[in-house]
Amino acid sequence: MSYKVAVVGATGNVGREMFEILAERGFPASEVVALASRRSIGTEVSYGNRTLKVKVLEHFDFADTDICLMSAGSSVSKEWSPKIAAQGAVVIDNSSCWRYDADVPLIVPEVNADAVDGFKKKNIIANPNCSTAQMVVALKPLHDVATIKRVVVATYQSVSGAGKDAMDELFAQTRAIFSAEAPETQKFTKRIAFNVIPHIDVFMDDGFTKEEWKLSAETKKILDPKIEVVATCVRVPVFIGHSEAVHLEFEKPISADQAREILREAPGVLVVDKRENGGYITPYEAVGEDATYVSRIREDKTVPNGLALWCVSDNLRKGAALNAVQIAETLINRKLLTPKQKAA
Ligand SMILES: NC(=O)c1ccc[n+]([C@@H]2O[C@H](COP(=O)([O-])OP(=O)(O)OC[C@H]3O[C@@H](n4cnc5c(N)ncnc54)[C@H](OP(=O)(O)O)[C@@H]3O)[C@@H](O)[C@H]2O)c1
Repeated sequence: MSYKVAVVGATGNVGREMFEILAERGFPASEVVALASRRSIGTEVSYGNRTLKVKVLEHFDFADTDICLMSAGSSVSKEWSPKIAAQGAVVIDNSSCWRYDADVPLIVPEVNADAVDGFKKKNIIANPNCSTAQMVVALKPLHDVATIKRVVVATYQSVSGAGKDAMDELFAQTRAIFSAEAPETQKFTKRIAFNVIPHIDVFMDDGFTKEEWKLSAETKKILDPKIEVVATCVRVPVFIGHSEAVHLEFEKPISADQAREILREAPGVLVVDKRENGGYITPYEAVGEDATYVSRIREDKTVPNGLALWCVSDNLRKGAALNAVQIAETLINRKLLTPKQKAA
């Protein structure tokens, strides 16, 4: 069986990665369609060894589309996801628009694949925030064994998490500084080149940012509502790859050795943890990789049953495009999706 797949946001960071991943994994697609805004008329994108001409979302008829991978931001998703879902295509959305809707499952297949069944209510499935996705992949196997009570996390998030314009801004600022010119700031609130910015998404009334709130709300929805999460989210001048310093408090004792063994067996996780120079993963090394890497696992003696670890992943892959494609594969593997057009 094969499925007609539409990618909305085809020219963006996440959209382009989606075509790579669909092709790489041999996704059973009868046809793949690239959709974006009017600005992209005439643009072409690569899908495996083929080139697709980008079509305009508002002119597209989804009547024979089975799966829509939506990656064009919240406002586009708010308007279009219900319309597309009403035409019978399952929407897998990357924006934050639907993540906290009780009738929309929020899925990381390694963690809560069973919850995918709930998609029938709205025909929409949400993909989590990039920082949440990689963190819960690493937390789930530890939670199953020793029950996590509290997470304290500081993120080091790459500029690609803020879209293609943000990547261009880091590049342009870096070049300007090397050319002794004044760097221009548009997308970020302060200079990002050779700097770090402790502010991602909007400020909330309690002083946390929305990005920090998302890490908590999404971990609760995906993994366990009893887990408390406090986050500080920081943008760093890295193009691709998010890193996280994660501090965990468990109900039951768990040693660093035990955690290392558990994580070595866990789906989607690769442990790189040698206590020597370079015996850990950095974001640069995670680019283009599917895994969530865990390094620097150690016991935190400042709290009962505490562990600290370092977690790195390619935010455009596990944090977005890969996770979305894995959700589509989950629907297919669980026989929850029948193609509209039967193969000839
Ligand atoms: N980057 C990450 O790590 C990450 C992780 C998780 C989730 N997400 C989410 O994924 C979404 C996309 O992120 P991104 O990084 O790929 O952004 P991006 O690089 O800025 O790309 C945005 C895409 O949306 C399209 N678009 C914008 N307005 C549109 C409209 N009115 N109609 C149709 N298409 C429209 C753009 O098309 P044009 O080129 O035609 O403007 C472009 O293809 C966002 O919701 C983001 O929050 C991103």
